[in-house]
Amino acid sequence: MFQPSPWRADFPAIAALQRQHQTYLDSAATTQKPQALLDALSHYYGHGAANVHRAQHLPGALATQAFETSRDKVAAWLNAADSRQIVFTHGATSALNLLAYGLEHRFETGDEMAISALEHHANLLPWQQLARRRGLRLVVLPLDEHGRIDLEQALQLIGPRTRVLAVSQLSNVLGTWQPLPALLAHARAQGALTVIDGAQGVVHGRHDVQQLGCDFYVFSSHKLYGPEGVGVLYGRTQALELLRHWQFGGEMVQLADYQSASFRPAPLGFEAGTPPIAGVIGLGATLDYLASLDSHAVEAHEASLHQHLLRGLADRDGVRVLGTPQTALASFVIEGVHNADIAHMLTEQGIAVRAGHHCAMPLLKGLGLEGAIRVSLGLYNDSDDLQRFFDALDQGLELLR
Ligand SMILES: Cc1ncc(COP(=O)(O)O)c(C=O)c1O
Repeated sequence: MFQPSPWRADFPAIAALQRQHQTYLDSAATTQKPQALLDALSHYYGHGAANVHRAQHLPGALATQAFETSRDKVAAWLNAADSRQIVFTHGATSALNLLAYGLEHRFETGDEMAISALEHHANLLPWQQLARRRGLRLVVLPLDEHGRIDLEQALQLIGPRTRVLAVSQLSNVLGTWQPLPALLAHARAQGALTVIDGAQGVVHGRHDVQQLGCDFYVFSSHKLYGPEGVGVLYGRTQALELLRHWQFGGEMVQLADYQSASFRPAPLGFEAGTPPIAGVIGLGATLDYLASLDSHAVEAHEASLHQHLLRGLADRDGVRVLGTPQTALASFVIEGVHNADIAHMLTEQGIAVRAGHHCAMPLLKGLGLEGAIRVSLGLYNDSDDLQRFFDALDQGLELLR
């Protein structure tokens, strides 16, 4: 039975892509954008751009007001206790690098950090490189057979030497929600700071950072239907106070002399240079749009499409789905057929999916794979998109086998 998306028409690029015979099933990489975002960008640039937090003139005051209103909207979206807990970065990657540099001074040789075996490179490499700089031990929490962090082992591995626990909320390869409440409670009890990579998790459902009880939570705007070049670092006030400044320049400074300077606290102290003003304002407009949707309807739509995707994959011979995906995406390989060949056949037929290591090389290697195909869904997808994918897959397999 055809399952339409009530929100498809809100995303003009979907129709444009369809005119180019493209079916977009790569939303975990980045999403298409709602008209509300395009309108906000056009309004900002069409009515007078200005730099924020420095000019006394009217355009500067208006830009600053719009920029700071977006900070309030992000704080409300995450249920942060205070807008000053929201730092704008250039993406989840830059937020995680900020943390790895900002917390570096807190480590002593022999200290430990814990990540999981399924982390995206963005939540692996900043910590790995910090470990190498400071002679720390990077502990990798193993997974169970479903692709979730194995809690029993994790609780053994996170101990009094663990200074930071940094884990994904939702895996970008396996589509599994991680057991955060138990992990975070244990890490906290051991005195570790907790960092959640919410790059995928933030896109599905609403998450309350106070309820999660994490010290830091990061995400990228572009995966949440917003513009690129904008990221968010949420930090508990006391946790933000632990961070050392890491990038220096305009905006973040309080007083500067030739030989010394003092710096602002968060958030502005961690937003050196001109921030992505239009992007931040655009993210605010995107959140307004998302907040206007019936969240239960979105959730039900995504769950139903996801079931359709999993059923379709299970029905096909030789398809092996990685882990037990719970939301929004599925990665798979096909026995006897090379990924690159499947990817090529799908691309030829206008199906936009992701193929490769998904920026998680150690995970794929641990699974004994060089790569996998990933289908990921956005709220604008409908069941016809999936049907076109399955038709293309069947046709491709017929040729390849
Ligand atoms: C789980 C996860 N973390 C971090 C990132 C990095 O996001 P960005 O490239 O927007 O900084 C991604 C992007 O794919 C991701 O899926």
